[in-house]
Amino acid sequence: MQLSSTLIVDETPLPQLMTGPEKHLFQLMTGFFASKLLVVAVELDLFSWLSPTPRQFEEIRVHYGLAPRPCQILLDALVSIGLLAYQDQRYENTATAESLLVRGQVDFQGPHIQLLDHLYSACADLKSALLENRPVTQDYSYFFQPTGGEVTGYSHLMHSSSLIPAMVLPQYWDFSDSQTVLDLGGGYGRLCLSLVTQYPTLHTILFDLPSVCEKATRLLAQQPVPITERIEVRPGDFFRDPLPDTADTIVMMRVAHDWPHAQVAALFHKAYAALPHGGRLLIYETFKDSESRPGEAAFISLLLLLISPGGECRTFVEMATLLQEVGFSRIERIPTVYCYSLVVAEKD
Ligand SMILES: C[S@@+](CC[C@H](N)C(=O)[O-])C[C@H]1O[C@@H](n2cnc3c(N)ncnc32)[C@H](O)[C@@H]1O
Repeated sequence: MQLSSTLIVDETPLPQLMTGPEKHLFQLMTGFFASKLLVVAVELDLFSWLSPTPRQFEEIRVHYGLAPRPCQILLDALVSIGLLAYQDQRYENTATAESLLVRGQVDFQGPHIQLLDHLYSACADLKSALLENRPVTQDYSYFFQPTGGEVTGYSHLMHSSSLIPAMVLPQYWDFSDSQTVLDLGGGYGRLCLSLVTQYPTLHTILFDLPSVCEKATRLLAQQPVPITERIEVRPGDFFRDPLPDTADTIVMMRVAHDWPHAQVAALFHKAYAALPHGGRLLIYETFKDSESRPGEAAFISLLLLLISPGGECRTFVEMATLLQEVGFSRIERIPTVYCYSLVVAEKD
């Protein structure tokens, strides 16, 4: 039989193959493809490369040395998850990719993406973590177990991912009234560095485990002396050792959510005792929006379930109750960037 040489294309729009609920479920089933694809594209630095100039398929293929099939699949998938757009035969960043995935931009989310991707393999054991209520990776054990392992890549990832929250904190809380800020569990000192840079007379104390402080000291030594001489590094265990009592402000950034209620309460007691009257405790991390709508915090809690024996995100009310029980008053919540909020409490 002879086929007609003219291809007749019916332009009538096809009915949607998948309805709302089916589509929703399909997105859930395949969600891991989206997050892994995001990681790969960020590792290839595709969004930074496309930022100044949208590119044609062949240019992208040659640039990355890809075979046509995977290149097409990659680009189609990135279009389908809303990170690239295809227009005039060129691929370009969508607004999301342009504002958050281009290296060098202030809001570049690469370190957050890396931090979460670090848990990808641990996630294969999510069911065990849920059924057995225990961490399923030892990568983070250095501070959860007294005989815990080495400070691994985790601290590095925390350090990278702290860039934005540390930098922007002063936009949400004015430290001008503070003389000395104690950063409890301050990691490699990103927040202290950000504060002394932004407040020329402020003193800071970085308190963390000795192994972390050792690395912090080495990193801080690369900064100019007039800046770092206002950062005192104090190695210690915040559960066992006394806290420095010379600070009028204590910050706990992404620390309280690592621990169960009893340990958080113990830390709050120590912070309260260490502060002068009028001193403040700032809790800076992800909170549940409300009891009934956990929002992004649900995923951060899953992360904490994978890595910690008792960490979880709390609601503002739960946190405020803990703070009130140890004596803090004037407790307020200030939403900040990304999924972080700041809870400020005062010692009368
Ligand atoms: C989730 S990280 C947050 C680090 C930093 N604040 C940030 O946001 O990037 C928790 C920090 O608490 C520190 N930490 C954990 N247990 C500690 C302890 N017992 N005493 C002092 N610091 C501790 C860890 O070493 C780590 O730096």
